Amino acid sequence: MFSLIAAIAYQPNTPDYPAIIGYQNKLPWKLKSDLAYFKNKTLNKTILMGRKTFESIGRPLPQRKNIVLTHQKKLLEGLLTTHADNPAMVSEKNIKSENISIETQIEAILKIENAAPNEEIFIIGGEQIYKLFLPYAKRLYLTRVYIHPTEILKGDAYFPKIDLDQWRLTSEISYPKDINNDHDYAFTEWSKD
Ligand SMILES: NC(=O)c1ccc[n+]([C@@H]2O[C@H](COP(=O)([O-])OP(=O)(O)OC[C@H]3O[C@@H](n4cnc5c(N)ncnc54)[C@H](OP(=O)(O)O)[C@@H]3O)[C@@H](O)[C@H]2O)c1
Repeated sequence: MFSLIAAIAYQPNTPDYPAIIGYQNKLPWKLKSDLAYFKNKTLNKTILMGRKTFESIGRPLPQRKNIVLTHQKKLLEGLLTTHADNPAMVSEKNIKSENISIETQIEAILKIENAAPNEEIFIIGGEQIYKLFLPYAKRLYLTRVYIHPTEILKGDAYFPKIDLDQWRLTSEISYPKDINNDHDYAFTEWSKD
């Protein structure tokens, strides 16, 4: 089963507010609680990301099976094995431990899901990969990042338009901003039968 997990900029009463998810290949906010939520949901699961999101994170995430989608498998494999100058990035060890695999075809990912349909595969972004997998998703974990009406958030990556009529809200928990979180935010979970 595919689940999308994303943090998305949102303004109450402004339905057309652009659903910003990134700026210059980074998250455009500091939200420690969302990172903890993301970790809690994805730990010991399979996560799938696009090559740009993988570069933004800079390393395979530990205690998860990382899959990266790219058209340039050889190039990325080369980078992974020779990135000795930046040990925080990726190393041969990560490849050998099978913590990470690189795929070039969406069909290969669909096959992995087909082989174990009850296992949750988390689609963790970015824009291109969310768009590609939204039609296959059965669950959405969407963190709403509430942008204050007086604020302008810069963005260049966006979440695709969702028809929420097709989805059932199963959980929503809201929190105010604090020293570790730049904005008010809410964890929302959606399901599709
Ligand atoms: N707010 C959030 O929750 C969140 C989460 C994740 C990411 N982000 C943000 O999203 C932004 C990145 O999004 P993005 O759309 O630019 O990049 P992306 O989706 O992370 O990666 C795009 C890359 O994926 C590969 N790809 C896409 N479709 C493919 C296909 N059909 N087959 C094989 N490979 C394919 C291509 O890699 P190649 O070019 O190597 O072929 C493409 O350049 C960043 O700003 C990041 O911070 C936000």
